[in-house]
Amino acid sequence: MSNEPKPFESIPGLSSLPFLGPIHHFMPIIGSIGPKANFVDLAQHLHKHFGNVVKLDGIFARANMVLLFNPEDFDQVYKAEETTPLRPSFDTITYYQEELRKDVYNGLFGLTAAQGEKWRDFRTKVNPIFLKPKLVKLYAPALDDISKEMIERLMKLKDKEEYLRCNFDKEVTKWSLESVAYIGLGKKLGCLRDDVDNQKAEVLIKCARDIIDLAYKLEFSPSVWRYFETPTLKKMIRTLDLQWETSASYIKKAKQKIYERGYDIPDEDKSIIEKLLAIDEKVAILMANEMLLAGIDTVSFTTVTLLYNLASNPKVQEKLRIKMLSDKPNQYLRACIKESMRLYPILPANLRRTTKEHIVRGYVIPKGVDVIAPNEFLSKMEKHYPRPMEFIPERWLVDKTDPLYYGNAHPMITQPFGFGVRSCIGRRIAEMEIETFIRRLLQEVRVSWSGPPMKVVLKVMNQLQKPYFFKFEHI
Ligand code: HEM
Repeated sequence: MSNEPKPFESIPGLSSLPFLGPIHHFMPIIGSIGPKANFVDLAQHLHKHFGNVVKLDGIFARANMVLLFNPEDFDQVYKAEETTPLRPSFDTITYYQEELRKDVYNGLFGLTAAQGEKWRDFRTKVNPIFLKPKLVKLYAPALDDISKEMIERLMKLKDKEEYLRCNFDKEVTKWSLESVAYIGLGKKLGCLRDDVDNQKAEVLIKCARDIIDLAYKLEFSPSVWRYFETPTLKKMIRTLDLQWETSASYIKKAKQKIYERGYDIPDEDKSIIEKLLAIDEKVAILMANEMLLAGIDTVSFTTVTLLYNLASNPKVQEKLRIKMLSDKPNQYLRACIKESMRLYPILPANLRRTTKEHIVRGYVIPKGVDVIAPNEFLSKMEKHYPRPMEFIPERWLVDKTDPLYYGNAHPMITQPFGFGVRSCIGRRIAEMEIETFIRRLLQEVRVSWSGPPMKVVLKVMNQLQKPYFFKFEHI
């Protein structure tokens, strides 16, 4: 038998139709997977039928993809790609920034869209500011104030049951926007107040959602936008323009305020944009814009799902309330956040595009292939986590002798903020926002859920399906 690696084409996977690729499997109704498939269903289907290495031919000029179900395998590829990791952005957004609005971007893109050396330069400039240990302390009092405002608002709205059933996520997103805008721009927008004109904040929230929905339609469903400007592409362009204009007007105001106040204040009192402006104005503007886009729905989804887990597990909620008063007030709270993100990650998978050839399980994976780590699917397997579908924060705290010990799972399996040098830059900000809000809320309010289980649908990112059945009671 030859030891020669087997060609990429021989990897088992979904059959491909000429031109369409394997899209017919993904398309509702005609797909073999079923109409409402989310990523976990899809991964399960592929794993069952094809094994641990599964190829999906590229659709509509997208790169070929390979799903690796052994954590050691994607660990091997991702680590070998760590020098300049390539995580492709949406093709429509790349087209918008590189061609349609070339004059605005002028070859410099934010972190999510930049690649190669440009990404590295950008990230090197912003890392020291985002990763500074003092960051958490600096914003803690303001975030606590914003959490108090949010809780007051929630208690006012709680009697409008119908409204909260449909709009709870939107209300939480107002809080996450208010929080990230304060950290990014050093300014409260007033998203949680009824006496402030919130139109612009509403626009930002709507744009962030629409961009994801439109990207899903354009890139994961059959679409001919690459050949001519479809109405959906036109809508995407209008939405990206509107998001840029709206965030630019906030950034302009923040700059004006800094200019009027003067620059002579202690460094720790400066907002992220002010610190960045001192290094590179273009980077400052792009980063602030990206915070207002990438830092809102991610945090609200994670907060709503954590609340859902706490509401559906009243004993854990009670234990958390007590533990928050102990001498290690954050330990159990952090375990609850980790556990909730294991079950409800905003992104069901991680992704790197190869920049060189790899050999995995005897197969050649050439340069230019998207290597997918099906993290959510693996995080819900009994093999990796005992009683995988249960919300058990203790698994993150018990020691090695306990069968629940999290360390029995490969460390690459649960990576809700991604991996390595290209992992989420907003992680500490997100964790700080969520911890501050939950701490405040649980001190004052008991949360319960009285309805059928919450459902998640996949539209590029995981999204929650309405309605919400939360109940809030003053303690
Ligand atoms: C709970 C909330 C959040 C989750 C679960 C989350 C998750 C992620 C994930 C999975 C990635 C991809 C990482 C990789 O490929 O290895 C990412 C990247 C990113 N996130 Fe977050 N994120 C959250 C909040 C935020 C916030 C608050 C901000 C802004 C302050 C932010 C800004 C970004 C940016 C700019 C990137 C691209 C980083 C790069 O390519 O260098 N995220 N995030």
